[in-house]
Amino acid sequence: MTDLLSRLKQALGPKGVLTDASDMEAYAIDWRKLFPGKPLAVVRPANTQEVAAVVSLCKHYGTALVPQGGNTGLAGGAVPDGSGREIVLSLSRMNALRSVDPIGMTLEAEAGLVLKAAQDAAEAVGRLLPISLAAEGSATIGGVIATNAGGVNVLRYGMTRALVLGLEVVLPDGSIVNGLRHLRKDNAGYDWKQVFIGTEGTLGIVTAAVLRLLPRPTQTVTVLVSVADPQKALDFLVCAQNELGDSISAFELISGYSIKLVEQHFGIKCPIEASAWYVLIEAGATLSGLREAVEKALEQALESGLAHDGVIAESGKQAADLWLLRERITESEAKQSKSVKHDVSVPIPTIPDFLQAAEEALAKAAPGTIINCFGHLGDGNLHYNVLIKDHDPVLINHMVHDVVMAMGGSISAEHGIGQYRVAELESRRSEPELHLSRQIKTALDPLNIMNPGKVLSRQGSPS
Ligand code: FAD
Ligand code: MLT
Ligand code: ZN
Repeated sequence: MTDLLSRLKQALGPKGVLTDASDMEAYAIDWRKLFPGKPLAVVRPANTQEVAAVVSLCKHYGTALVPQGGNTGLAGGAVPDGSGREIVLSLSRMNALRSVDPIGMTLEAEAGLVLKAAQDAAEAVGRLLPISLAAEGSATIGGVIATNAGGVNVLRYGMTRALVLGLEVVLPDGSIVNGLRHLRKDNAGYDWKQVFIGTEGTLGIVTAAVLRLLPRPTQTVTVLVSVADPQKALDFLVCAQNELGDSISAFELISGYSIKLVEQHFGIKCPIEASAWYVLIEAGATLSGLREAVEKALEQALESGLAHDGVIAESGKQAADLWLLRERITESEAKQSKSVKHDVSVPIPTIPDFLQAAEEALAKAAPGTIINCFGHLGDGNLHYNVLIKDHDPVLINHMVHDVVMAMGGSISAEHGIGQYRVAELESRRSEPELHLSRQIKTALDPLNIMNPGKVLSRQGSPS
């Protein structure tokens, strides 16, 4: 191993290789502190050629690599195991913004660029990069691509996958494949970039990307309403979509418990009366009349009893304050208690039934648990997080996922599998799907050096 380390130092220079435990600490454990790892080293290449050199060396020595961006992943995919034999490859030094084109509506960046910086660069030229999540201040372009991140604007703009036009990747054999084309349409041959979007660093390393930008709405309206129950929230979604069409960019369901957590841990006051459930909506448009249309939809909801109370943000600051109520939930939950997080999706009309069935199952099998439920109602994606004391997290996970599967849902809507959900995936996905996934993994990474044990179990991967 020392031979490998000295060759890595030769290739990357002393700045590029960390081996001291304290220097490696932040790279070794995931955001949720569930998976403490022990890296052999942390390498921080400065460019694609250096990434390729690292991968070639690791291939030669048969040493596993764990790609890491902002390390905000919630499935433990970006951290090494405890063996002391895996190397974390951090893209943090590769954070150049290469180009922003307001006419072609594209942005090209290196993988380590933080998402917020990319959003700001698009805004500076009057365009929108609509990938938006509470971790955008640390999550990176490579990380959101590798996890096919969702966030709050999926309803209107799709998952990250829908915004990727081109990729540059380093394969597990150390070769570089450059597909950084700024084209809206390109049907020439396999669309191979799809293999690296959402595969969580298990098939290759994203070193740069071309993303699609959108026109930036000139008006944005943010509304918080209180509703009696999830069925009313769903009815309100339909009413809002009838009135506002595809100008709705976010439609978030928030439980009263989630709001209480944020008020308690961040001292942010909810501006409307306490309620069992809330909906936070954001709509954007360029053509005039949006505000009036939102007011009409809100009036209808209040008059018909769909909503109890509601507030329309009167300023950018007030809109930001409403969003803080939503964006601080994850951190508030982490401060409050251990939790079994669920990132599930079910067919949108079944959401009330899912919540009912899951609550009944939990009340029976795990009395004393508290449910912190919030999420992207407009996409059918809920974060159904169960706060536990000494309950068995595996049992709770399995039970909630049983309900999800019974409704034709998915056990991971946007966070991915990482190491957190490998067992659940292998017990829920059909054998033909798993076999095909393993064939793809074996074809690209026959030595299983690329993020082993993530998405697919080590047993299921090439040995
Ligand atoms: P990391 O955590 O560093 O890595 C994530 C995975 O991608 C790992 O498997 C890693 O190996 C791989 N990877 C990273 N960079 C590369 C690369 N360049 N090439 C190949 N593989 C790579 N996620 C959502 O989808 N929606 C949300 O709304 C959302 N909200 C969040 C809120 C909070 C407060 C937090 C802490 C997280 C949230 N997340 C959300 C999860 C997380 O932010 C996303 O998964 C994000 O995409 C991770 O980006 P990252 O750069 O931190 O990646
Ligand atoms: C969110 O929507 O806030 C994230 O996915 C984070 C979470 O699930 O906690
Ligand atoms: Zn989410």
